[in-house]
Amino acid sequence: MTSSIASERQALEARARSLVLPKGFVFGAATAAYQIEGAPQADGKGESIWDRFCRLDGVIADGSSGDIACNHYHLWREDIAVMKDLGLDAYRFSLAWSRLFPLGAGRANATGFAFYDRLIDGLLEAGIEPFLTLYHWDLPQALQDKGGWYSRETAEHFANYAAAAAAAYGDRVKRWTTLNEPWTFCWSGHATGEDAPGLNDGAKGGVSASHHALLGHGLAVPAIRAEIADASVGIVFDLNVVEAASSDPADVAAARRFDGAQNRWFLDAVFKGRYPDDMLALYGKLLPDIRPQDNAIIAAPVDYLGVNIYRRSVIAEGTELAPLNFQRIQPEGSYSAVNYEIWPRCIYDILHYVSDNYAPKAIFISENGVATKPETVSSDGHVWDDLRAKYYVDHLEEVSKAAGEGVPVKGYFAWTLTDNFEWAYGYTTPFGITHVDFATQVRRIKYSGKIFAIIAGEGKTLTETKPSARLA
Ligand code: FCB
Repeated sequence: MTSSIASERQALEARARSLVLPKGFVFGAATAAYQIEGAPQADGKGESIWDRFCRLDGVIADGSSGDIACNHYHLWREDIAVMKDLGLDAYRFSLAWSRLFPLGAGRANATGFAFYDRLIDGLLEAGIEPFLTLYHWDLPQALQDKGGWYSRETAEHFANYAAAAAAAYGDRVKRWTTLNEPWTFCWSGHATGEDAPGLNDGAKGGVSASHHALLGHGLAVPAIRAEIADASVGIVFDLNVVEAASSDPADVAAARRFDGAQNRWFLDAVFKGRYPDDMLALYGKLLPDIRPQDNAIIAAPVDYLGVNIYRRSVIAEGTELAPLNFQRIQPEGSYSAVNYEIWPRCIYDILHYVSDNYAPKAIFISENGVATKPETVSSDGHVWDDLRAKYYVDHLEEVSKAAGEGVPVKGYFAWTLTDNFEWAYGYTTPFGITHVDFATQVRRIKYSGKIFAIIAGEGKTLTETKPSARLA
């Protein structure tokens, strides 16, 4: 190692140590069922839309799937050991709906329920708080066959599933998230077809799916509360700081449309009880059947908002996704392996945007992280992901600044605990703070994980950068 790298690392560690975050701030890492679990048919699990989608030709960059992924279904104890080594306070994970209800509704699968019982008990024994997400994109295929998120009935099935999960786990799990990123799963899944179920129906598909998904959220909130008196219930949105590419009125209008589609459509519905007028007018005939009672259902009060933030969006007028008619501009700068601009200020700006305009009671950064090309273990046994380590310090400094200004940000979850199946990118763009050797399933905490552990304040130091003895 050259002395300049060593001194850069020392400087970063010093910044990590001096970060100030509010008392009680929750540090965690996040994952999603399909991205880590594997075992798609184990113990009576039903097929999900991601199981089906990955079988299509050419949809996943490396032709892979989540069939094995991190084999977390069998190796969950090792993953809890990693979380302990990282000093995490909390773990955000999702349930695979089709493990609990193989057909999405109707018959429950007791062995599927039992898996999450074991996981939750293991987390609690390790002193790690479970933050449970009900829906992270893996709709049971049987419900897709009946129309999926184009159908109002899916919203009702979702609420029934939420109630059953709450009844099963509510004695131990108090933090409940209904949906993860409706903007992405509705639009990438139904407008552009990049994600499951792979429908290419343009804005009409995105808007229709998003209304029914939000309706599902709104029905699930009281269903969860009915089972768990002291539940803290929220939703996770993927938000972007949107900037116009120029002061040209056409670009400004396009940026406003994009902000309306990705941010305000969802935030206004949940926090203001109605969709934004400009977007209702823009979507016009593309809108699904929005019934008079729907707005009030969707606006069921939530205890927190989860914000997934990865980038800003610099937007000009263009031709993408009529009637949004925008194009994304790439400002000069550095970019991650999934081509997201690395721009730490986005997290500060989005915290203010949300807090200033919507005043949620509490905000969690429910995902933030960076993709690289696949990494290798160096000859000293470490994975030196310096870029990612710096990313976390840079971004948490911005969180600290916003918290210092009174934004009620209560916690931060790194995306992601371990390298895993990154949807359409397959295994080509790892995001983990823990490396996974997919041939052997060995987990090895990366340098970014060590930095994260320092920030989480668990007294880990860099002299301990041996891979976990249990795992190496
Ligand atoms: C988010 C998803 C998550 C992961 C990260 C990189 O959009 O919620 O599953 O893919 O992006």
